[in-house]
Amino acid sequence: MPGERMMDAAQTPDFDTYPVAETVRTATTDGRILTLEWSDGLTSRYHAIWLRMNTCDPETFNLDTREITRSPLDLPSEVRIEKVSVRSDGAVGLVFQPEGHAALFDPGWLRLHDYSNGGRQDDAAVEKVHWTTAECPEPPTFDGSDILNDDSTFTAFLTAVASHGLARLRNAPADPDFAERFAGRIGVIRDNNFGRIWNVRVEPGSGSNAYTALELAPHVDLATREYQPGLQVLHCVENTTRGGRAMMIDGFRVAEDLRAEAPEAFRLLTTVPWHMSNRAADSDYRWNSPAIVLDQAGQIAEIRSIYFLRGPLNAPFDLVEDLYAADRLLHEKLLDPRYRMLFDYLPGDLMLFDNRRILHGREAFDAAEGRRWLRGCYLEREELESALRMAARRRRAAE
Ligand SMILES: [Fe+2]
Repeated sequence: MPGERMMDAAQTPDFDTYPVAETVRTATTDGRILTLEWSDGLTSRYHAIWLRMNTCDPETFNLDTREITRSPLDLPSEVRIEKVSVRSDGAVGLVFQPEGHAALFDPGWLRLHDYSNGGRQDDAAVEKVHWTTAECPEPPTFDGSDILNDDSTFTAFLTAVASHGLARLRNAPADPDFAERFAGRIGVIRDNNFGRIWNVRVEPGSGSNAYTALELAPHVDLATREYQPGLQVLHCVENTTRGGRAMMIDGFRVAEDLRAEAPEAFRLLTTVPWHMSNRAADSDYRWNSPAIVLDQAGQIAEIRSIYFLRGPLNAPFDLVEDLYAADRLLHEKLLDPRYRMLFDYLPGDLMLFDNRRILHGREAFDAAEGRRWLRGCYLEREELESALRMAARRRRAAE
């Protein structure tokens, strides 16, 4: 029977490696559940159907792509484990019935995906630090002079963005193409109607206050889009002006404090959508969203606050006044120096920040005195997460 062909070594359904810290001491089954006892005393349990769905062999997976080749309907509805063994190399061998299908499981993979004890933690997950300026008076800063070749500084920089929502490179090249080269090292740049790479400098008639010397109130970019960019790069090529300090605010910390101090205002800001609309002559992007977006677990997931691109509010009649009052509380906090980080851009500075968490803006500057030229682009959060997972994968492979 073809299913009884045993492979030489256990494969995993991905391209990762799973160093084995603990070994399987005993492996038993009642047919429906596989129970493993590990060398550190932990007991893990796996359903036969789960194991069969994750069997990694040429009959179930394309081992070149590691994509599943059999639909759930191709497998029996009632799966049983008939035999279980632990091989000398530590792999767990199973025979599934009614197919008589033999399969091997990598013990490190089984241990990491042990859903009976809480499941796999995302190895790119970084503990979030929601800051005020007392805890974080300036951006976490890293030397950018050799950042394109310096893997450990690159990873530390990305980790800071994941935890604090922002990080700064200092002494990076001030070349106009550096923003693109650096962003490309992280992942795929997100194109948009302002251009794949855009310039922030005084450009009369360009259709946005960003391209003047005016103050820019704290905001997130492209909140008028269904999917607001997750990351923003701003790179300073030139700055000989006075004023124009950058401001950055941890919107997650502001929202968290608002939740504690004014729960009813927080409830309105997380449930009643605003209408946001861009004002371009040649495009018409619109989106409706609460100013603070929660995920399914009720955690703060996204800030969508940009008052200068709001369209008319279209809310339930009885909520309108209370929503404006709640919005006032939010904007009072955005003015508060407790939350407002201020800093100057030097040529060669590059900021990477979470555009769905960090509000950014600037003070006005004097355009008659010199030139201020920033170059920027967008990426998605998933590019940062993928880059961090790849760094973790390289670390594990080297263990
Ligand atoms: Fe902006």
